[in-house]
Order: sequence, then C-alpha cells, then structure tokens
Amino acid sequence: MTNVAVVGSQWGDEGKGKIVDVLSKEADVVVRFQGGHNAGHTLVIDGKTYKLHLLPSGIVRPNKLSIIGNGVVVNPEALLGEIENVKSQGVDITPDNLLLAENTNLILPAHSVLDNAMEEARGAKKLGTTGRGIGLCYEDKVARRGIRICDLEHSDYLKERLENMLSHHNVLLKGFGADTLNVTDVYDELMKSAEKLLPYVGVAWKRLDEAHKKGEKILFEGAQGHMLDVDHGTYPFVTSSNTVAAQAAAGSGVGAKEIGYVLGITKAYTTRVGTGPFPTELDNAEGELLGQRGHEFGTTTGRKRRCGWFDAALVRQSVKTGGIDGIALTKLDVLDGFDELKICVGYDINGERYDHYPASAVHQANAKPVYETMKGWKEDTQKARSFADLPAEAVKYVKYIEELIEAPVAILSVSPDRDDTIVMQDLFSA
Ligand code: IMP
Repeated sequence: MTNVAVVGSQWGDEGKGKIVDVLSKEADVVVRFQGGHNAGHTLVIDGKTYKLHLLPSGIVRPNKLSIIGNGVVVNPEALLGEIENVKSQGVDITPDNLLLAENTNLILPAHSVLDNAMEEARGAKKLGTTGRGIGLCYEDKVARRGIRICDLEHSDYLKERLENMLSHHNVLLKGFGADTLNVTDVYDELMKSAEKLLPYVGVAWKRLDEAHKKGEKILFEGAQGHMLDVDHGTYPFVTSSNTVAAQAAAGSGVGAKEIGYVLGITKAYTTRVGTGPFPTELDNAEGELLGQRGHEFGTTTGRKRRCGWFDAALVRQSVKTGGIDGIALTKLDVLDGFDELKICVGYDINGERYDHYPASAVHQANAKPVYETMKGWKEDTQKARSFADLPAEAVKYVKYIEELIEAPVAILSVSPDRDDTIVMQDLFSA
C-alpha cells in the first residue's frame, strides 16, 4: 500500500480534477499542497458539474477527509464562497471532512490589486497571471511578511502583522496610483471571515501523521502543471509555487518518502493559458478544432486556451524532473477524426538539435518543434471501456507516447465522465 500524488505534467488543465476524483474513491484523505484559487478543477459526476478552485476534489465524496495544506495560499472570501457554493449543490462540508492547515498563508485584498496593477504595468510583456494575487501572496510569505491563518486567533498580533504588511503594500499601491489601505478596514474585513473559517483550522501535519500510522491512503492533489513550476517551468511565465510532486511533502507536512506513487496527468495534446513559450502551438484551423472539441476554456478565468500537438520532449522532461512514475493520459477522444497527428520529439534552436527544453527564456522562445507524424483514427474512442477497445492507430499513438516519455500509461481517460476512465493499474498498491 502506498500514497499517490497527482500532478500536471504540462501547463495545467490536464484534467486532474476528474482523475483525483476517480482515485479519491479509494483514498481516505485528499490533500492540496500548493497554488490557490488560480486553479480550477472541473468534476462531472452523475451529470452534475462541480467547479472547484481551492477545495480538494475529495470533498464531493462522503467519508473522506479533505485537507488544504500549508503550501496553499488561501483567499478567505474565495474559500468561504466556494464552500457555500458546493454546499448548495448538496455536498456536506463540515470540520469533520475539511481541515485547513493552521500555518497556511492568506491572500489579502492588496495581493490581487497589486497582481493586476503589475500585469498592467508590464504592458506587452504581461505574464498572463490569473489576477488572483497568488504570486504576491507567495512573495510576502517568503519575505516573512505574510499573514497566516493561525494569526486570526490573536487580534493584537494580527494588527501588528497587518501594519507591517500594509506599510509595504501601501508604498507599492501608491506607486501604481491605486488606493492605499488602512489596517482597521483590512482587519475588520478579515474578522468577518475569521469566525467562519476558524472552525476548519487545525494541525494538518499531525492529522497526516495519524493517517500514516493508521495505514490510511493519502492522495496529494497538485494544481497547475510542471511547466508552470517556479523552478522547472518556463520561467518567468510560471506560477509562483513549486508544482512538482516533491512539494507535496513540504506543502502538507509529511516526509518525502510519504509521497508514494507519482501520477502525471497528461493531455493527449497540449494546451496553455496565459502568455509564454509554447513550441507546438497551432495558430490555425487544427488548433481551433482541438480547442472546440476539447472545450478549452479556463475554469478559473474563462480565457480561451492555446492549443497544440503533443510535446513528448516536454513531458519526458516533466517525468524526469518531477519523478513521475506513470501518467494518466486524458482527452484522447478529442483526437478522434484527425487524418494525421504530430508528436514533438525535440527542438531545433538556431539550427542546433535539442532533445530537451532548455531553461533559457531566449532559447525557449526560439525553439522550433521537431515532429514525427502518425496516422490518426476515425472511430469514436469515447466508447472504449478497455485498452483493447481502442482503434489500432490510437493504441499505436498511446504506445509511442509511453516510449518517448519513458513512463507507462497507468490511466486512460476518454471523456469528462468519471465512468469513462480506463484504469490499467491499482496505484495505491503500486
Ligand atoms: P498565477 O498563478 O495567477 O500567478 O499565473 C501565472 C501563470 O500560471 C499564468 O500563465 C496562468 O495562466 C497560469 N496558471 C495559473 N493557474 C493555472 C491553472 O490552474 N491552469 C492553467 N494555468 C494556470
């Protein structure tokens, strides 16, 4: 028996929510360990759609504990709004099934105001952030200016911390020509949320240690994707957290050995929201078709996602840097009907051949994909219930991906519905 960490191997939006939901059936505890409400996980269960941003996907199943770990950045209003929203869909959310780590940093009003003001100031060089204040909150955390959820219990200390933080924020707000904030207003606003949030707050690392001792199965739910990792991604066009599975340990308070099997969720083609390099992007009718068939619009911002061919060189890099043991290949059905499919196997950068995606932003911007072409298939793969049901060309496509990325396909997903998932391996026993 082992734990499982689920991470995105591309630029996010690989379909993690659905896979986590499938796996959470077996898990006892589901933990978010990084990111914030920039994430968007869509679950479709019995025809009902749930859109989650901060809540772990396990929340929609009864008798599971969902934990928001210390590596996450939490906007109190966004979390409370999401709790109310999901509750209104008939899901029970109480302190018995939701635990918020006491050492989690909070996103405050200035974070998103500054996030948007800084994006505006970047002009044509925008990073394309979600505008949720994620990066600004992580900046304050690392600068030791952050407000943590445990601070809400101590009013004098909280005011002192807010004064310290606002003395920094107000300088920036002034510089951007935005309204400055005063401690009393921010404090009063926070206090409104505190009463509702504090019942969920607890010592996550202890509860996880108990889970470990009891032999409970833990599922670590990543957000975004490896190529958005602040170290291993397409810097500076990245998010502000580590999205690799290693972060599951630091971001929740368990040892590195506890992470267990690392499952990389991988879309059968590639998408990206926001700006930044994307070698296999298709700025043509094929890209449009992928977007339409795959319903490629952001869950969080509604932005149209950029679409392109599968980039095996990039996913192989994620497999290596993130310790991915196997992948869940999603949205294979979106490729039904194409005459030909291209797979990127490396890059040409100024006439030199690379089998990896170099770290330099200059190289990344100049990288031209080196493609191999495969025959497509006309059959409807949504009907497949086992690997053997897939058309021969689809099997060839999947097998070739496995060979190129040097990792096996452990799960295959052929539609948004939870039932249309072919599980090749019991990951909790892997
Ligand atoms: P931030 O995380 O809001 O700072 O945005 C930084 C970059 O990460 C932008 O390119 C966003 O579009 C991207 N990003 C953040 N969250 C997600 C996600 O859940 N899926 C896909 N892209 C994301």
